[in-house]
Amino acid sequence: MVFVFATRNKNKVEEIQLLIPAHIRVLSLHDVHCMEDIPETHPTIEGNASIKSFYVYEKYHHNCFADDTGLEIDALDGRPGVLSARYAGEISNAENNIAKVLNEMKGIENRKARFKTIVSLVIDGNETQFEGIVNGTILTEKRGTMGFGYDPIFVPQGNELSFAEMQLAEKNKISHRAMAVNKLVEHLLKMTV
Ligand code: IMP
Repeated sequence: MVFVFATRNKNKVEEIQLLIPAHIRVLSLHDVHCMEDIPETHPTIEGNASIKSFYVYEKYHHNCFADDTGLEIDALDGRPGVLSARYAGEISNAENNIAKVLNEMKGIENRKARFKTIVSLVIDGNETQFEGIVNGTILTEKRGTMGFGYDPIFVPQGNELSFAEMQLAEKNKISHRAMAVNKLVEHLLKMTV
């Protein structure tokens, strides 16, 4: 089984490689010579995951999976949500996205939030989606240097460490993306028996 994983995020590739059995071959966008940015124009996480996997399937004729993730904060009415990647504006990065969230959360007691990942799998033009959600809380300041994105300000429920204070193997035991990818793997393994 060969799939393209439609992401340019090296951290995601590293996370997913640890979760996928060795006999499932995962190609990168680079491997299929996809150099352009894939548009993420849908107003939902589900829709953006779909756009990415169908884009690769239709243009590069490879079965494909793609993920889209958002951080949903209760006190911010679910923001940044689908806007997580560009929350601080079109030229956002993790640094200024986090700064914007921390600023908006100043003085707010309700710090409940969740990461939601949707994985869209497209095989022969048919799509299946898998969801992973991890609940947790938003810190008042950054903690830890591992991981990426919003990891330094998110503490998953039942833990003391932020995602950025965890080794990748620890994050992978409980993370939103791991949950969705484990469902994907289960589905792929069922297809091969
Ligand atoms: P996308 O799924 O790559 O579009 O990610 C949307 C935004 O969420 C980006 O700003 C990512 O950095 C952030 N993000 C995605 N996955 C994670 C994660 O596992 N931890 C922290 N931030 C994440």
